[in-house]
Amino acid sequence: MGYTLAQLNDMRGLFGTRPWRAADDPCCVVAVQNFKGGVGKSTLSVHLAQYLAIQGYRVALIDCDSQASATTLFGYVPDLDLTEDDTLYPFLRQEEMTSLDYALRKTHFDGLELIPANLRLFQSEYEIAARMARGQGGLIDRLSQGIASIADRFDVIVLDPPPALGAISLSVLRAANALVVPVPPTVMDFSSTAAFLAMLDETIETLAERGFAPTLKFLRFVASKVDENKSMQKELLTLMRTLFGHAMVRTPLKDSAEIDNATARLMTVYELDGPVTSSAVRNRCLTYLDGVNAELELDIRAMWPSHLSRLRKEGLA
Ligand SMILES: Nc1ncnc2c1ncn2[C@@H]1O[C@H](COP(=O)(O)OP(=O)(O)OP(=O)(O)O)[C@@H](O)[C@H]1O
Ligand SMILES: [Mg+2]
Repeated sequence: MGYTLAQLNDMRGLFGTRPWRAADDPCCVVAVQNFKGGVGKSTLSVHLAQYLAIQGYRVALIDCDSQASATTLFGYVPDLDLTEDDTLYPFLRQEEMTSLDYALRKTHFDGLELIPANLRLFQSEYEIAARMARGQGGLIDRLSQGIASIADRFDVIVLDPPPALGAISLSVLRAANALVVPVPPTVMDFSSTAAFLAMLDETIETLAERGFAPTLKFLRFVASKVDENKSMQKELLTLMRTLFGHAMVRTPLKDSAEIDNATARLMTVYELDGPVTSSAVRNRCLTYLDGVNAELELDIRAMWPSHLSRLRKEGLA
């Protein structure tokens, strides 16, 4: 017989083994960001959020992209099942709102809540940009304010931004205190990531000049959609490891038919209870996913003074 995650979390509570941060540790707000499209941001965001929930953390996932891929992976058809009032949209446009609580909804993962997106969220790109052009620069901080209004209840808040540099992506950068950058090892993705990093640098500088400098506790690169059968990818992977050094997550997130097939069912690999492909393919895929997520979990825990001492004792930090 298996236990549900909710039952497991009850037992963790009983035995005092929930891995929560201490009240004075900062909530980790991690953005899975790269301005390039299709690099695996949403896939990694959702699997990271679900992995952390399975470990017993209190997690929120905020879908900041009007394409709503992350929302879709929770089984929603965004433009049928949701309205703009279910998303970030009302909070971003109405100054008088003080909390994002209204938009959080429970998911079928105990301990994981979701703020979904749908196409209407795209409106706020224009609205924020227009209002910023009229001198309301503080709007770049609106998402941060919303996150601050709910951060108390969570250990980790994962942000899935849209591709391209717009008002929402900027707000995400401003709100995050940690950044994970997925990069497929192909020439195209690699060169646009170089452009992304240059832009990131400029953006951070510009934000700093205006007194909005983001403070990042960690920045990690994840090789995503890796196909080691392609010799060029192997070479680029080696180059990335040399360039990014310790900032690079050691486990590559390989291209897997299991991820593709789960996505087609509006699900994740963690959610499926059996292989769509074969158990060998599924197990390999779970090994990559768990490997990447476990490394990121260590970075997250190292942000928390109450965990850092434990990690040091265990030789993990
Ligand atoms: N490791 C992987 N193995 C197989 N398919 C993958 C993998 N990672 C992502 N994909 C597939 O690639 C496509 C793009 O992935 P995803 O939506 O996560 O990228 P994204 O960076 O969020 O895209 P966008 O920029 O449009 O938001 C999806 O169909 C997804 O299922
Ligand atoms: Mg996406």
